[in-house]
Amino acid sequence: MSQPKEAWGSRFGVILAVTGSAVGLGNFLRFPGLAAKYEGGAFMIPYFVALILLGLPLAWAEWAMGRYGGTRGFNSAPGIFRILTRRSGAAYLGVLGLLVPVVIYMYYVFIESWCLGYAWHYLVGAMDLGKDPAAYQSFFATVTGANADGVLFASPFSGPLVFLLVCMALNFVLIYRGISKGIELFCMWAMPLLVLCALVVLVRVLTLGTPDPALPERNVINALAFMWDPNYGGRHLLTSLANGKMWLEAAGQIFFSLSVGFGVVITYSSYLKRNDDIALSSTTAVAGNEFCEVSLGGMITVPAAFIFLGAAGAVGGTFALGFHSLPLVFEAMPAGRWFGFLWFFLLFLAAVTSSLSMLQPAIAFLEEGLGLDRRGSVAFLGFITLAGTGLVVWFSKNLVALDTLDFWAGTFCIFVLATVQTFLFGWVLKPTRGLAELDAGASIRVPRVFTFIVRYISPIYLIAIFVLWFVQNVGAYWKSLMTDSVVRISVGFLFVVCLLFLLLISQAIRRWDKSTPLNAQKD
Ligand code: ALA
Repeated sequence: MSQPKEAWGSRFGVILAVTGSAVGLGNFLRFPGLAAKYEGGAFMIPYFVALILLGLPLAWAEWAMGRYGGTRGFNSAPGIFRILTRRSGAAYLGVLGLLVPVVIYMYYVFIESWCLGYAWHYLVGAMDLGKDPAAYQSFFATVTGANADGVLFASPFSGPLVFLLVCMALNFVLIYRGISKGIELFCMWAMPLLVLCALVVLVRVLTLGTPDPALPERNVINALAFMWDPNYGGRHLLTSLANGKMWLEAAGQIFFSLSVGFGVVITYSSYLKRNDDIALSSTTAVAGNEFCEVSLGGMITVPAAFIFLGAAGAVGGTFALGFHSLPLVFEAMPAGRWFGFLWFFLLFLAAVTSSLSMLQPAIAFLEEGLGLDRRGSVAFLGFITLAGTGLVVWFSKNLVALDTLDFWAGTFCIFVLATVQTFLFGWVLKPTRGLAELDAGASIRVPRVFTFIVRYISPIYLIAIFVLWFVQNVGAYWKSLMTDSVVRISVGFLFVVCLLFLLLISQAIRRWDKSTPLNAQKD
């Protein structure tokens, strides 16, 4: 195989596409939810430690391995792992680079459709539900089908499923158009637009002052203190830092947010050319994601909820804050309808730029591994994801199927894939070749200590967190697996998809061993 046929149109385009993949619901819903849960300031310490020791090194490693594989004709994790290790069997490890993004897509696109639905309801003025929190919770349950399994299929052509179909169609049309004319073009206008919407909402939130004179303590300054002061409410920083779960969740948030350990960055960077810069581009994408997460997501959601709902109301589950609480905030704001629209529209854009990226790794694999053309690969993947999204939407009661897939694919498998990639970069590609790859065409010099971090610190940190996390969570999940049939069905489905990909990888290995034998490859 020669140079990959597809390529990014410009350096700015690839940076926006990778940043678009990273900036998503994780930035605007998950991060603020966690920051509020762990009292803001204290959470930022494990969060930034994980960024420096795991997120940034893994992002550099993924970009380097991706371009390494891409310039040797491979764009998918199985192909890249095979060529990198010079072992056909290593392609099987790449199954995680397909499974993680595809399975996350299956439920992510459903949440994306909630954002679109909310934006639409604000736009047409149908979110005028008054000031009763119960009204918003019941609206959320109607949109998500959280009251009963199968309820969303009762009115497939007039209810929330219409928004879901729009989202699925949009994703697949853009993927069908390809890297440059689909993903890159969409991100080129969606990213600036979503940042603009976020800035407008941010300015509105930060200029709220003290909206209710009867409650003077609910003001912007106190809201910012709630978000950022590690000693807020008289808690000692060291006491907060002793919470092991906070370290786990901070690391998980870094992976989820940066789309690192997803199999996405490695595929995106494989479409670069040999002398394209990756060092500065990857750093810029990480910085762009952190700006959107910390400066926009964190500064909008929690302060807004604090000002209108108080400290107790600002703490909620991952999605509760965004979908239950913020509509109450917009209700209490002057011109809230329009700010509500802007907020949910920006969430929708952020979600699309991320969900798109979750499809590309499998598309690349189906094309290069099985020789399918674009139409065939899009149809094949469309069928698999339709089955998975259908499962999540059918078993909507209390969002059990969604939560189960999120746990196993969106947390467990991400940790495993991140560990595999650290090992491949640090111990297979090794520091000299890894650094040479990062330095080729580089606009900045990556600090040399990076190789030490990626070889020793990141894997140890990862394994320690993983073991701790496993010990803390596996009992509860085992119990739910034993007692809840929806959990069993969801995990069973995950296994079936995994087996299917393993089967396809075995076919791909056979093809590759014939067309690009490993012993004929130059380094
Ligand atoms: N990185 C994406 C997000 O944060 C998946 O939502």
